[in-house]
Amino acid sequence: MLKGKKILIGITGSIAAYKIPLLVRLFVREGAEVQVVMTENARDFVTPLTLSTISKRPVFTFPFNEVDGTWNSHVDMGNWADLMIIAPASAATLSKMASGMADNLLVTTYLSAKCPVFFAPAMDLDMYKHPTTAANVQKLVSFGHQLIEPQVGELASGLCGAGRMEEPENILDAVTKYFNKKQHLSGKNILITAGPTYEYIDPVRFIGNFSSGQMGYALAIEAAERGAKVTLVSGPVNLTISHPNIRLINVVSASEMYDAALAAFAESQITIMAAAVADFTPEKKSDHKIKKEHALKSIILVPTKDILAAAGKLKQADQILVGFALETDQEIENARKKLQNKNLDLIVLNSLNNPGAGFGVNTNKISILDKSGNQNDYPLKPKTEVASDILDRISELIK
Ligand code: CTP
Repeated sequence: MLKGKKILIGITGSIAAYKIPLLVRLFVREGAEVQVVMTENARDFVTPLTLSTISKRPVFTFPFNEVDGTWNSHVDMGNWADLMIIAPASAATLSKMASGMADNLLVTTYLSAKCPVFFAPAMDLDMYKHPTTAANVQKLVSFGHQLIEPQVGELASGLCGAGRMEEPENILDAVTKYFNKKQHLSGKNILITAGPTYEYIDPVRFIGNFSSGQMGYALAIEAAERGAKVTLVSGPVNLTISHPNIRLINVVSASEMYDAALAAFAESQITIMAAAVADFTPEKKSDHKIKKEHALKSIILVPTKDILAAAGKLKQADQILVGFALETDQEIENARKKLQNKNLDLIVLNSLNNPGAGFGVNTNKISILDKSGNQNDYPLKPKTEVASDILDRISELIK
């Protein structure tokens, strides 16, 4: 399955490094070429000799060859690889990757890599749960890197929890799947809306909502990884995104989102509206900060334009339009109504009644409804995987 693929494996100092010779063996057996780069600490857990024997290539740790002083070029390795995978990824290396701290060959190679990057964290459960590690993981995901989630189980410390590196067979599986689906959206333009909108009351106050933008950003990354050219129209969020296939347009209000999204709509074969757009906006926006002594007793609200409904009216036969519905009551019935009224091909329903789904969490539990009356229910998953499910479902419509 991986014949001719060039895989760069970065090994860091974690006990799970002992599993990497098996991972290298699996890649080689599938026909891949494997180049190993390992940190000095990783050499305490697994020997370079084992890895170079299995990969049939020299293994590098230092920028210069220890014997003859020649350069082990991180730039050449970064250019060579079709995919880089950091496994196990220790907390220290995650932090260096997130901050660009290029103090070893592995991190300089990572910074030079032009290919997709996968990372498989492995550490003790409290280290993995720590907010600093969580923030680093989140940042790396926002760069478009693929997180291979650690598994829950017994750890080397004797404690039990999330932190065990995913098994080599499953890492191989994730990489194989990636190459299989990789380019199937190439040549397609995809428009995605994400995040909340803020409706100004005055220059310092607004009406907003709790949308974090994570779902829309995960969709943008997944679509870009599958080869699509993505236009991401985003309301104000605390997320960063950088991918050669993604054009980010930042907006603030529902009316700005309307203009930006509709400008890109005609050229988009697939449109997914994941934004939580305000349904109402203040009738008047004060140009000056409203002072206490002129206190507003009420704010008159007027409806915003429904972007999804407007796109539904313009939709041509060769365009696919997908909306989201966040419901608390009569979920399926309400979602079906939206599907029909807004002329959608699919609607993704997430219910606020499901713990772990909806705003501000990095998991979601969805159902996808189509216009023929079919309904697919999915289990609670990280939003990155939910994005993959949604794009798989959309891909079935293209076929
Ligand atoms: N949407 C939109 N423009 C709006 C309001 C909503 O594009 N002004 C889109 C959202 O991005 C989402 C879908 O419509 O894809 C559903 O949004 P939601 O707020 O759940 O539905 P509404 O139609 O606004 O109905 P209600 O708020 O009454 O449930």
